[in-house]
Amino acid sequence: MTDSGTDTRPDAGNPLASEVALRVDPLIDDPETRIIVCCGAGGVGKTTTAAAIGVRAAERGRRTVVLTIDPARRLAQSMGLTELDNTPRPVPGVDGEDGGELHAMMLDMKRTFDEIVEAHAEPERARAIMANPFYESLSAGFAGTQEYMAMEKLGQLSSRGEWDLIVVDTPPSRSALDFLDAPKRLGSFLDGRFIKMLMAPAKAGGRAGMKFVNLGMAGLSMFTGALNKLLGTGLLRDVQTFVAAMDTMFGGFRTRADATYRLLQAPGTAFLVVAAPERDALREAAYFVERLAEERMPLAGLVLNRVHGSGASSVGAERALALAENLEEGGIVDRGPGKGNKHDAHSPGRGSPDEPDSTLRPESAEALTGNNGHTRQTEQLAAALLRLHAERMRLLSRERRTRDRFAALHPEVPVTEVDALAGDVHDLAGLRTIGELLAR
Ligand SMILES: Nc1ncnc2c1ncn2[C@@H]1O[C@H](COP(=O)(O)OP(=O)(O)OP(=O)(O)O)[C@@H](O)[C@H]1O
Ligand SMILES: [Mg+2]
Repeated sequence: MTDSGTDTRPDAGNPLASEVALRVDPLIDDPETRIIVCCGAGGVGKTTTAAAIGVRAAERGRRTVVLTIDPARRLAQSMGLTELDNTPRPVPGVDGEDGGELHAMMLDMKRTFDEIVEAHAEPERARAIMANPFYESLSAGFAGTQEYMAMEKLGQLSSRGEWDLIVVDTPPSRSALDFLDAPKRLGSFLDGRFIKMLMAPAKAGGRAGMKFVNLGMAGLSMFTGALNKLLGTGLLRDVQTFVAAMDTMFGGFRTRADATYRLLQAPGTAFLVVAAPERDALREAAYFVERLAEERMPLAGLVLNRVHGSGASSVGAERALALAENLEEGGIVDRGPGKGNKHDAHSPGRGSPDEPDSTLRPESAEALTGNNGHTRQTEQLAAALLRLHAERMRLLSRERRTRDRFAALHPEVPVTEVDALAGDVHDLAGLRTIGELLAR
């Protein structure tokens, strides 16, 4: 480990020169690795990474299941997932060596919730709970339920012991931390004083119903009375009935959440934090890394996804801009000092560290515009392309700086980089490409 904040690296500009490289193949090949959790902020590529790792692990011989959450429709289809369905299905087109298989499922949150209710309540009671409108909205909409349900499902898949490797995608939360906080939040929701107060009359009323007035708890009945006015009697009764019913299962929720939490801390679990190479994303990834350490959850590494490259990276931003301006000013490319160009400082051969090479000298820009005269249009097009290139090069150096800052903060975290592909990743071929990039 280096002193954080001190850049003692021999080659700071070289991608991955300093960071410990994340070795994905040894991780997925290791029979001790049983669970890989792909987490990160919204839209960074968690689902893509999880699916790509699933395909790669299966094709390398492991019996793998991927639990995806809200995959894009085309990606889901390419994995044979045509409907929300809580049962893992074999993915057609993935044939692993030595018995490797890929199964995939999309988490159906409501169905998972239903399964828990069915498993933990008498059939009649289960039906009553599930018919309750409040249950409907809780199971679909309560913040954190999706995260919680992903954990539940992971617990179920793991307890069946059918799989060599379970790859878990996490829900599209605003923050990566939501995933870890969800069970606690759901717990404290059910535990909460507000809910307890709501429940008290329902419990005391028992089968006879909501006998608020007979409770001898004037304050409470006034409270519920006010709520009734506010929300309408039906809704409050729904809430109370529901929570009373959930109460019997409450212990179960807690116990299972605790068990899943322990599973996430087990040595066979590996967290992959996925992040875009952007400042905010990496700041959040850093928080997440710290939080995992606090929770003693095993971090395998950071996946920097959608890193940009350029086929002409030898032409720096400044140089490209100078060329563009040159062209825009009438196509008079500077052929030497004093040729009516105010950007001499950036002309070739001046040794700007940003422009190490000469693939696109002004002369070759001239070539770009064609031999017989510079038509205005071609010049403008060339200038526009050069400006685009300059933007791309600025993006590249911004990404590099951001990545270096993360590495300085957490030099111990292994990193792998995945290029930004030209299009979306929506089929097995795309997933294989991502897998190769991950394992590079
Ligand atoms: N390396 C990549 N190159 C090009 N496109 C990518 C890459 N990684 C992901 N994508 C695309 O980016 C989009 C978002 O990816 P993905 O759905 O995996 O993100 P997510 O983190 O799961 O999002 P959410 O938080 O909404 O669940 C998808 O359209 C996917 O195809
Ligand atoms: Mg997703």
